[in-house]
Amino acid sequence: MVRFENVEIRYRGKEAILTDVSFDLGEGNFHFLTGKSGAGKSSLLKAIYMGIFPSKGKINLFGRDISSITKKEIPEIRRRMGIVFQDFRLINNLTVRENVALPLRIFGTKSSIIRRHVPELLEWVGLGDHLDDLPTSLSGGQQQRVAIARAVIARPVLLLADEPTGNVDDTIADRLLYLFKELHRTGTNILIATHNENLLQKFDYPVLRIEDRKLSFSD
Ligand SMILES: Nc1ncnc2c1ncn2[C@@H]1O[C@H](COP(=O)(O)OP(=O)(O)OP(=O)(O)O)[C@@H](O)[C@H]1O
Ligand SMILES: [Mg+2]
Repeated sequence: MVRFENVEIRYRGKEAILTDVSFDLGEGNFHFLTGKSGAGKSSLLKAIYMGIFPSKGKINLFGRDISSITKKEIPEIRRRMGIVFQDFRLINNLTVRENVALPLRIFGTKSSIIRRHVPELLEWVGLGDHLDDLPTSLSGGQQQRVAIARAVIARPVLLLADEPTGNVDDTIADRLLYLFKELHRTGTNILIATHNENLLQKFDYPVLRIEDRKLSFSD
């Protein structure tokens, strides 16, 4: 599903952020990714969704070596992923309902199904009263839940979530984790970046940890 071999990540003209990173996430996985602020969690996720390319080493996604990928193929591969960005990246001139419907529209899902499923999921994440609001009128935690709903609505093969519980209280965080677990149970592979140690302890999933530019793995 996702394989890194001796990967180095650096931003142009800067020192490397991650060096010699190797790991293999096969089918059916649920992992946390942790490390201090600035350690490189978001950068690692960015490399998985091909927002940046490695300066050394190899990344393999869904069986494809991405160094040989064409620009045209990138959206096609990304369509198999759901991504929750740390800064949400909602479309501010679309309503909550329309933001969440986007992935389904891209897949050509029937309008009748969209009309039913989108409100159902938004209800589940506690936003049933905000379907027709614009993202800018919502709180940070509410916007984050819209971003999560948009990432999971089309049941991606791989879900990448960057601090998805960073702006919500514990009750909502538990509910969101339950949603991720359900998704995992039905076949989505999940990688959640978080520096929330409580979450790591409460949920018994394997942890990838970034420290001193290296990645280590613990069960
Ligand atoms: N676009 C960029 N250009 C240059 N440097 C960047 C860029 N994005 C991130 N960095 C640097 O890369 C390092 C890792 O950042 P990253 O955002 O991956 O950390 P993080 O672990 O996600 O931190 P946080 O927990 O605060 O979200 C930081 O030193 C940051 O300044
Ligand atoms: Mg980050």
